[in-house]
Amino acid sequence: MNHLLKISDLSSAELFDILELAAKLKAKQKMGQEHHLLRGKTLAMIFSKSSTRTRISFEVGMHQLGGQAIYLNSQDIQLGRGETIYDTANTMTRFVDGIMIRTFNHQDVIDFAKFGDVPVINGLTDLHHPCQALADLLTLSEIYGNLKDVKLAYVGDGNNVANSLMEACSLAGMTFSVATPPGYECAPEVIDTVKIIAKKTGAQINICNDAKEAVADSDAIYTDTWTSMGQEDEKQKRKEIFKEYQVNDELFGYAKSSAVFMHCLPAYRELEVTKRVIDGVRSKVFDQAENRLHAQKAVMCKLMCK
Ligand code: CP
Ligand code: NVA
Repeated sequence: MNHLLKISDLSSAELFDILELAAKLKAKQKMGQEHHLLRGKTLAMIFSKSSTRTRISFEVGMHQLGGQAIYLNSQDIQLGRGETIYDTANTMTRFVDGIMIRTFNHQDVIDFAKFGDVPVINGLTDLHHPCQALADLLTLSEIYGNLKDVKLAYVGDGNNVANSLMEACSLAGMTFSVATPPGYECAPEVIDTVKIIAKKTGAQINICNDAKEAVADSDAIYTDTWTSMGQEDEKQKRKEIFKEYQVNDELFGYAKSSAVFMHCLPAYRELEVTKRVIDGVRSKVFDQAENRLHAQKAVMCKLMCK
């Protein structure tokens, strides 16, 4: 593995290796054991969109691994004034040991990986959010143990988070069910990829438009904002289209009684999820947020400990 641009870049074995290392690094961190596996290394982080969890977890993660992270708002570097990705990637390669990018167009992270000569990590594009999906599988494995026995249901917008989760669940051999409004399904290329992966891993993937059907007998219900970054103009329209897809107590009635609630955050209460659910005992949202740190440390070690 040379980069992490999307989850399906990984093999199943690589996915499970990352999760295993993440659990080990988490245990070390909790016990206060030093693990400076990236001593002297530098990660550059380019952000073209807002971030709380991604920015903090990468920055803290590099610090805990003995390296450093540099925050670069894309508007503050020459990229924002029209310098090409080719020139930016070639320049950054001379300074840093890895590049994390959060941006709009997924092709931009592909280009950074193609033109630069250091590992590139996708910190979210319009199409994928692989680091989030790794943290989510780490969270589910902590709750349930063997991921192959877990049914995860995603309800809402078939966006970047949904795309990466579907890829991750298929690689892990899980049961994954997704319900979106018609016209808001996951990306067609992701669906095609996942069908191929599922044949190899035995994953069960169900794609539908009915939230109740998706969550039936599930161990976890996941949702995300109805209006992702860059879609702000569609906010009102989306509120109307997605209202039947709110995760609330009634919907949880169709899942297992032990089912947990998951959300990548930031969340918008009383829209995609009720306050009662996200602030209730089922909610695992802050475990997911914490696991961003541990999962990404594992990714950085796999890519940059060379
Ligand atoms: N879940 C997530 O990526 O959060 P941020 O947008 O705060 O980084
Ligand atoms: N789907 C959301 C995820 C934020 C972490 C967005 O792209 O804005």
